[in-house]
Amino acid sequence: MKEVDFFKQIVRSLLTGQLKAAADPHRPRWHLAAPVGLLNDPNGFIEHGGRYHLFYQWNPLGCTHSNKGWGHVSSSDLLHWQHEPIALLPTEAYESHGCYSGSAVSDEQGRLTLIYTGNVKYPDGSRTAYQCLARADGEGGFAKLGPVLDLPEDYSGHVRDPKVWLDGQQWLMVLGARTQDDKGEVLLYRGESLQSWQLLGPIAGSGRGGLGEFGYMWECPDLFPLADCHVLISCPQGIAPQGEDYRNLYQCGWLAGQFDGEHFEHGAFHELDRGFEFYAPQTTQDSQGRRLLFGWLGLPEENEMSQPTIPYGWLHQMSCPRELFWQHEWLCQRPVAELAALKGELTRFEGVVSEFPGMTIDSAWLDLTLTGAGSLWLGTVAELVWQKGRIGLRRQNWQSGEWEERSAPWLGGSLTLLCDRSSLECFVDDGRQTLSARYFPGEKPQLSAGDTGEGGKICLNHWPLSACLVQ
Ligand code: FRU
Repeated sequence: MKEVDFFKQIVRSLLTGQLKAAADPHRPRWHLAAPVGLLNDPNGFIEHGGRYHLFYQWNPLGCTHSNKGWGHVSSSDLLHWQHEPIALLPTEAYESHGCYSGSAVSDEQGRLTLIYTGNVKYPDGSRTAYQCLARADGEGGFAKLGPVLDLPEDYSGHVRDPKVWLDGQQWLMVLGARTQDDKGEVLLYRGESLQSWQLLGPIAGSGRGGLGEFGYMWECPDLFPLADCHVLISCPQGIAPQGEDYRNLYQCGWLAGQFDGEHFEHGAFHELDRGFEFYAPQTTQDSQGRRLLFGWLGLPEENEMSQPTIPYGWLHQMSCPRELFWQHEWLCQRPVAELAALKGELTRFEGVVSEFPGMTIDSAWLDLTLTGAGSLWLGTVAELVWQKGRIGLRRQNWQSGEWEERSAPWLGGSLTLLCDRSSLECFVDDGRQTLSARYFPGEKPQLSAGDTGEGGKICLNHWPLSACLVQ
């Protein structure tokens, strides 16, 4: 579509849809969601010129995975965001089927520059992909510079999601890839400049680094230093469930190891979030030296098209902004410290579960110390369950009506649960594990006593969180 025609359609979509979307009782009060249409991956997360910039995969015209461009918001504090001009729309032949995911860097002249995948599909079902550049135009928008990298030889058309960073004097890029014989890989490139890239080879993937068969495609890779190691986050597709692990359709996880600029020696794969909806996260390092992360609280293809927000004309939301840290040889996550500014008045409860009087969790921060075994209801459609060694999140599937569960190992430490109308993010053992999910409890869901179980006691601090919408 021509850019001007896109704009006409987007104006109509916003004029007719925004009020309806805002009136949805499931609309988040302090998480990022698109004003209308479908949002998926966080893209181009960066602190630049004293502000945080977050871009996102966006179909502004509807709740389907089409017309993908990049929406753009910016913030000085990771809480209060403002809309910026739409950054990218798929108007050119080399991105005819979407300006897919990618990252942002400050180029050699300090200009904010986007690197993204131009996705092209053909009528016979095949596809190709180009890695493309766009540079800030000085007026809040971006000027496209076109493709800078074609498909590598002997790979399928599924090569996408460039994450670029400056490593000393050189640019490096990781790309998600699917080989012609359906193995998922992460490819490493070196760039003399942002325009000129050389393939160094796969640094991780199915059949590599001791992983065995590990999926047909790896999406959205991100490689970064943390403490004294490097972490590679990526989203492998095509892994079968194994007991309590890999229960979602697609996985999102991390590998930690040593990276020498060319090779990555890593350990085992661990899920980054053990809940129902969490995918395609992206990190950046901010000027305070923190490694920050946003994830998409969604998952492609699994039940998404029956979410009850679709009649309200919007679909999906981001996770809260999280800080990554490395502790006891493990990748941990916590909500960024800035979020505490949204906390209202503290209410406390300590005692046996059956005596818990209940509290509203429409939009809330809960710190919980749990003992014995027991459960708490989250509205009537989800339940937090604990027993020695394990924390579970149960919910009623909004499509099938069946109850389903995800769980994480639990060392007995405290929990933080963030609630925002239709989302739950649970940080277990001070962030050693997380469980994130969407749920649709209706208006003003209550946290209430569930199963008392054996010696089920809770000590709970509850703060309502104030609204914080994109302006
Ligand atoms: C992950 C993903 C990416 C792709 C984008 C398209 O959710 O499939 O691999 O770039 O979404 O929207």
